[in-house]
This record gives sequence, C-alpha cells and structure tokens, in this order.
Amino acid sequence: MADATFRRMANVNGEITPLEEARISILDRGFLYGDSVYEVFRTYDGIPLFCHEHFDRMDNSARLIGMKISQSREEMLEEIRRTASTANVPKGQDIYVRWHVTRGSGALDLVPSRDLVSSYVIILKEVPPWKPEFYSRGMRLAVTHVRRNPIEALSPDIKSGNYLNNILGVAEAIELGADDCLMLNPSGLITEASNSNVFFVIDGRLVTPSAESGVLRGITKTAISKLSEEVGHPLYEQKLPVNQLTKTSECFVTSATREVMPVAGIRLESGEWRDFPPGGGEVTRLVAKAYKESVAQYVKDRAYLQLL
Ligand code: PDD
Repeated sequence: MADATFRRMANVNGEITPLEEARISILDRGFLYGDSVYEVFRTYDGIPLFCHEHFDRMDNSARLIGMKISQSREEMLEEIRRTASTANVPKGQDIYVRWHVTRGSGALDLVPSRDLVSSYVIILKEVPPWKPEFYSRGMRLAVTHVRRNPIEALSPDIKSGNYLNNILGVAEAIELGADDCLMLNPSGLITEASNSNVFFVIDGRLVTPSAESGVLRGITKTAISKLSEEVGHPLYEQKLPVNQLTKTSECFVTSATREVMPVAGIRLESGEWRDFPPGGGEVTRLVAKAYKESVAQYVKDRAYLQLL
C-alpha cells in the first residue's frame, strides 16, 4: 500500500526527491553568490494564492538583476504541480511553495558568462507553524542597528536568494529579546521586518513605508492596500522616520505565510518598549478580518487554478 503521509518534496531542475535528499551543484551561482531570485506562495484549499502576481514579481526581480529565466512560467507551474502530486498532500492541508531560479552553474567567476542556463529549485512543505501567540498576543519587533540594504546597493525590491541582510537583522532582534527586526534604511527611515512588510496606525491613519524607503513590494501588502479603503482605513504609503514610532497606536506585519500578524510591541533604539493592544487594535483586527474574507472569496472564484 502506498505511504499516504504528507512528505516535504523538492524538485531540482526536474528531479523530484524528498526535501532532505535534494542536491544542487556547488558551482551553482545561487549557492556560491546568492545569484538567484525566489518566490513563496501558499495554497488555500489547493488554490495557490496570487500565483500570477508571484510569477510577475519574480520576472521583475530577474529583470532588476539582469538575469534571464530559461524556463517558461508554464513549465515552472507544471513542475510545481508535478512536485505537489508526489507529496501526498492530505485533502484540506494547505502547503507552502517556494521556488528559486538561479543564474545557473558555470566557471567559478563573479562575471556571469552569457551562455548560462538558469537552474531551478522547488521546495514544497507545510505552511510555517507560527507560534499561536504571534496572533493571540502579537509579535515583538526590535529596531536594529543593522540597516536595510539601501536601494542603490541592493534594492530590497529584488527578492533575491541573498538574505544575509535580513538574517543579520533578525539575529540582532532576537539578541535584543524580540521576535523579529524592524529595519531602518541608512537615512533612518522605517523599511520592513526580516520577511514581512510593516504597517502602523499613526494619528488614526493606516500607513506603511513607501517604495523609496527600500522595501519589497509585498503581494499581501498590495492586497491590503486594495482592501483598506473598503474597511474605511485607506492605506497611505509614505516615508516614515523612526521617531514616528512614538506616535504609533497599532502595528502589524503582512506576508504570504504570516497573512496579517499583529505586533504587540516594538523595542526602540533607546531600549524602551512601545506596547500595542494584545491581538491587535481595532484597525489591525478589521484589516485582518477583511483579508481573511477576501482570501476566502479569491479561493471560491478561482477553482480553475487548482494545484492539488
Ligand atoms: N517573504 N519583505 C520581505 C523582505 C519578504 O521576504 C517578504 C516575503 C515580504 C512580504 O511579501 P509577500 O506579501 O509577497 O509575501 C516583505 C516570504 C514570505 C518568505 O521569504 O518566506
């Protein structure tokens, strides 16, 4: 009888194996230099949320680093589908889908040769099991000394396979007693957390750092931006100097896997904590509810996208 338990699976250039058995070449530029781009989406009832938007963003990341993706979108989707079909995903289980495209393998040389063929790696696993208190109470963020990469150096709008900046940020935040970082750019403007966008209620307005501060154009954030108007709290994108935190009454983060996650407190650079309502204030709760409802509607409307 076939083993019916869910298995985390990987697909490396078409070769599907259990996740822990997957291998790539040490000459792969993704491994050597972080010379790659990636995306993450999750499924709801087998439907990949904002699948096309993630592919569009990957194309944009690749464009920004001058990388040609050799595989077509249809081919990659088919490989994701093929990988999912081997994972024994139980009905009703939502999954995490991550795929990296690297500039390929070649000579051990920073200069990419023109004839490189991009490689891909697909990772399929369960949705991250965030601690329940991240929702019931909220995450705790710390403003770190580590600054977010400036746009002119390595734009945070490139979702690249190089997350060293984010790793240094979150590691420092944990040292400071928080769960995640709130990174500033070199000019002291608020940017984002290690792998999520950040939103605040300041003087009653829902605000989030604008693109010029240096943030990833989050796909969840774009969805929130559309919804926020409907719930009576239009989203303003603006430059947010760190001193705005003293006027903040609510905070939350968003990502494909976290959805809308309240922030319970922020550690300022002075070491002082600013606390917010446990489980999110009024605006956070309204936005979180609207997001959940809109995802449910999306899934209903897109049965034709069924991945599992
Ligand atoms: N992270 N900012 C950064 C630096 C991110 O890595 C992410 C996503 C986001 C939110 O983007 P989106 O709403 O499109 O997920 C913002 C993914 C989930 C990850 O790396 O796991």
